[in-house]
Amino acid sequence: MKVCVIGCGYIGLITATCLAELGHEVVCCDVDEHRIGLLRKGIVPIHEPGIVELVKKHTTKDKELLFFSHHTSEAITYAEIIFICVNTPPTLDGSLNMGNIWNVAKQIGCNLNDYKVVVQKSTVPMGTARKITQVIKDNRITPVDFDVVANPEFLREGNAVLDFLNGDRVVIGCESWRGSEKLIELYATLPSRAILTTLESAEMIKYASNAFLAMKISYINSIARICEKTGADVKEVAIGMGSDHRIGEEFLNAGLGYGGSCFGKDNRALIHLSNQLGIDFDILKAVEIVNEQQISLFIEKIKNTLGDLNKKKIGILGLSFKPNTDDIRDSRSIKIIQLLKQEGAVIQAYDPKAMRNMAGTHYDILYCGSPIEAAKDADAVVLVTEWSQFLEIDFHAMKAVMKTPIVFDGRNLYDPMEMKSQGFDYHGIGR
Ligand code: UDX
Ligand code: UDX
Repeated sequence: MKVCVIGCGYIGLITATCLAELGHEVVCCDVDEHRIGLLRKGIVPIHEPGIVELVKKHTTKDKELLFFSHHTSEAITYAEIIFICVNTPPTLDGSLNMGNIWNVAKQIGCNLNDYKVVVQKSTVPMGTARKITQVIKDNRITPVDFDVVANPEFLREGNAVLDFLNGDRVVIGCESWRGSEKLIELYATLPSRAILTTLESAEMIKYASNAFLAMKISYINSIARICEKTGADVKEVAIGMGSDHRIGEEFLNAGLGYGGSCFGKDNRALIHLSNQLGIDFDILKAVEIVNEQQISLFIEKIKNTLGDLNKKKIGILGLSFKPNTDDIRDSRSIKIIQLLKQEGAVIQAYDPKAMRNMAGTHYDILYCGSPIEAAKDADAVVLVTEWSQFLEIDFHAMKAVMKTPIVFDGRNLYDPMEMKSQGFDYHGIGR
């Protein structure tokens, strides 16, 4: 099918490339001409395992299925299905700036030349798809028919291509069979279960799912605090809990809490939406509070062990908000480094992918070429992101270069007994 994707960011680029992988012809548009220029040269501005290969595969001469353009209007008239994948930046009170969505909806209205299905992909408040319908109607020049579909994404950064091509479910919110059938045809070759529902239910599924995952994390982090006081080990507890299929073992990893550009944003948005409806979503407020406390409790733990942090040298392992990405948006490392520096600590750090992005934050950090280098003369090493390569560290060598062999494991990556046997003073979370 002929598809136009508007917005070449995390969502748009993954959507466009994966739809090309399904065999569709896709034009991916963006107002950012620099970004389009890079993509045309095969340079992908986001770090996602598998995306570069897929872009290359579908932009290869004579076999192109994926095109990049900043002529959005032409792309709209060419396509039968139009995806809106532009960003909805959060504002301080949790509400979203929807300006990009309305601009694009207007542009679609003005260029409507035949029946089209307009797909709202980005995470948006309930009722947005219905409003998009109105904006298109108000701006339509020719009175042609169209349908709007709410089709939220459940892509995890660092896993987005797999999540798209092997997701558990595809949620299709639409008020007409014609629109639903177009999306069913579009996604026909995916192994995912298709869930047909109304516009608002589809939009709600996304928020309800993300907030639930964030709640699961704050729940296990709260259990971790009790474990520390009672001698239980939260990793063992999580295994026992997760074996119950009603609970499930994923998203029960206690640690420094959730970061990234989604959970915090979506949680605050759902709280804001509830307040606007006169509903107090108290559980979600607690989810936020617990998540923030994880950082201050961790800093307390470091101070209780090292005493005054002034001039103490701390080696940070991991800067990205989670492994397999270079993204540092709302990363726990930023808050931890801020608080340690406030106490006068000297920071040196290593991350496999995110150091370049962190350098843009102008924090005074010594960036190192390896975990051992980040541990040199350190009073303590602090693991913030559980990159699997941190399991390969030669701890004998690390201990030899440290001032004092103290490790704070913010993601419970290591085994406490193993670390103790290597001579480290090991501190996990909930262990
Ligand atoms: C966002 C988060 O960045 C991502 O981490 C999360 O997984 C999902 O939500 P996305 O919505 O794709 O991703 O936003 P972003 O990555 O900022 O990309 C938006 C793109 O749309 C930008 O390239 C921007 O130039 C483009 N855009 C914006 C348009 O093409 N037209 C507009 O009118 C506005
Ligand atoms: C999330 C949702 O998983 C995805 O479905 C949605 O589309 C976008 O938001 P993402 O934010 O990319 O994806 O990453 P995710 O893997 O969910 O991790 C988010 C944060 O939670 C990370 O900081 C991670 O370290 C943390 N986390 C995750 C935990 O602290 N414990 C866990 O058990 C799992």
